[in-house]
Amino acid sequence: MALSVPSVESIPAPREGVDPELARHVGDVSRPRRLPPRPDLRHLPGEPSLLGGLVAFADWQKRGAAHLRDQVQRFGPVYKWPLPHYTMVVVADLEAAARIGRNTDGAWSAALGWMTYLNGIDSTSDLTPGATDFEAHKDVRRLLQPGFSPAALGGYLDLARPLIESAVDGWVARGRVPFRREVRSLLAKVSSRIFLNDDRRGPVLDRALDSAWSTPNAIFRNRWLSPTWRRGQDGYSTLRDTLRAMVPERRASGGKDLFSRLCAEPNDVAWLDDEGLVRMFIGVMFGAFDTTSAALSSMAYLLARHPEWQDRVREEALSLGPGPLTPPLAQRLEVTDRCWRETLRFFPVSGGVPRCALRTIEVAAQRLPAGTFVLAMSGSRGRDADWWTDPERFDPNRFAEGRAEDKKRPGLFLPFGVGAHACIGSTLATLEAKAFWHVMATRCRFRLARDYEGLHSFATPIGQVSGEVELRIERP
Ligand code: HEM
Repeated sequence: MALSVPSVESIPAPREGVDPELARHVGDVSRPRRLPPRPDLRHLPGEPSLLGGLVAFADWQKRGAAHLRDQVQRFGPVYKWPLPHYTMVVVADLEAAARIGRNTDGAWSAALGWMTYLNGIDSTSDLTPGATDFEAHKDVRRLLQPGFSPAALGGYLDLARPLIESAVDGWVARGRVPFRREVRSLLAKVSSRIFLNDDRRGPVLDRALDSAWSTPNAIFRNRWLSPTWRRGQDGYSTLRDTLRAMVPERRASGGKDLFSRLCAEPNDVAWLDDEGLVRMFIGVMFGAFDTTSAALSSMAYLLARHPEWQDRVREEALSLGPGPLTPPLAQRLEVTDRCWRETLRFFPVSGGVPRCALRTIEVAAQRLPAGTFVLAMSGSRGRDADWWTDPERFDPNRFAEGRAEDKKRPGLFLPFGVGAHACIGSTLATLEAKAFWHVMATRCRFRLARDYEGLHSFATPIGQVSGEVELRIERP
């Protein structure tokens, strides 16, 4: 998959016209940070009441992209959605959503968007790098970028491969696997090794991040009313305290894992103290393994239901010969790549990205006042019959050269986001997926233990196929 990670230099600066009240928030990296007051959105179409908003929320969790399609038919491509902690404005118009992501006019804050979305998960509620804007965001990307260089990625692959092989061998021996749960715990181990070089912390990380990711969907953001919220806050604190205690030792370790590199990096960023460094690292972990493991679960479901594609992935993997997969060899896995993209179209991981308008702005013919909290749906239009041929069909060849349906319209296929905040780990995620399917396809064939019609679900904020994806596994 083409790398679309933006260069640090391309990060835009806020332009004139930013609301003076909001201007104070731009570039604010202090802790704790406060959120701006909410604007009046009564003029917008959308759910009229909190009750309607909650019903819509339950439907979104259950039916994901299908829910969005229905709401767009009811209200149009820009509509409001009242929820207990905020009123969100959904922007489902393709071009408008991509324009918000690109933010070339500096009218949008990712920091205020993410902070609103996650508000309260931690006493200070800033999860970098998503929760930084403009100059501060440049600092963060500059620090992180070496950890995602081609050399670093090759090293990560070497560390990940033995873990993947041993997990798959275990599944083959058992003959049956609750795939969703086990691939998640495998990816937790992989992340813990490549980002922390510490195998013991895999389960801690797994539990803490799982809890933290469920918090944005908690109806009550209150420790005493919501066990989900309490677990999430506790998960985040565990992570923060564990990592914070490790900083001095890692600074001196010379280790090649991402955390040691970050700790040892000469830090010329005045505002980023050790606490900030740890938060930035958690932000990366937050983006890293739940997302990738969700996509792997969806892809397992699709390949299990489409054995002809599973065979093609297997043939391609075998054609590379018996050696281990390296990044140059991974580039030759074109069929696997097409299946991966088709999975991200069919069951998008990220529905949309949260942003906050820094000035009053018109979006798809609707006026959004400064301070509007927006979910720009840049990832949810994969089943849109206007743009995709037979969108309910699993058809990886739609991404083949010559057909390239994803290029039909700008902004149509943005699984890893767009603009300055586009996913820094997109190449790593794709490489991990290819390494996983290379091992899986050459060592076993699989089918669903019990066939079912998987829906695109947002039971957590991470989109994936519904159900447990229980697999029966046998030797090829
Ligand atoms: C299938 C897997 C993945 C998907 C679908 C995905 C998707 C995304 C999306 C849509 C964004 C944009 C968020 C925004 O605009 O606010 C993003 C940002 C980010 N992702 Fe990923 N991601 C994946 C894997 C990873 C991995 C493996 C890592 C790290 C190793 C990672 C780290 C990050 C970080 C740190 C950001 C924030 C970037 C910034 O704000 O500058 N992601 N991801």
